[in-house]
Amino acid sequence: MNEANIGLSPDTRQKIISVLSNVLADQYVLCTKTRNYHWNVTGEDFAQYHKLFEEQYSAIDEDIDEVAERIRALGGKTIATLTEFLKSARLKEHAGEFPSAKTMIGNLLTDHETVIRNLRNDIEICDDVDDVGTEDFLTQLMEKHEKTAWMLRATIEN
Ligand SMILES: [Fe+2]
Repeated sequence: MNEANIGLSPDTRQKIISVLSNVLADQYVLCTKTRNYHWNVTGEDFAQYHKLFEEQYSAIDEDIDEVAERIRALGGKTIATLTEFLKSARLKEHAGEFPSAKTMIGNLLTDHETVIRNLRNDIEICDDVDDVGTEDFLTQLMEKHEKTAWMLRATIEN
């Protein structure tokens, strides 16, 4: 098998693949949670939230593909089962809970903010091992979450 000869040591690539696997797992949980809310939201603003959640899980789904393919580009195999995603995720699921639309927005906001804070640490790890490619990649991903967090925050602000 050909090793990726891209100027990063096997140790470094392994470390970054581990970081990206955690990011991927969190994205998967957040995507599923957003889709859960797309399906289960109720109330007079149903149509608005149903559509908003669809836009958001679709965007996260595209990011999931990018993260998984970056793991492959660094020479790793990507985790790809629900069992592995749940094991590696830092976000928590809340099965069987169907909160109000406002609480759904608040829960998603909390999760996006958690992802942003985790990404800051993940970006630091990339910086420590001079993986500028993944550092740039995760910085752009973090900026997307910052924008989504702002939109969610604005939705429930008075
Ligand atoms: Fe749908």
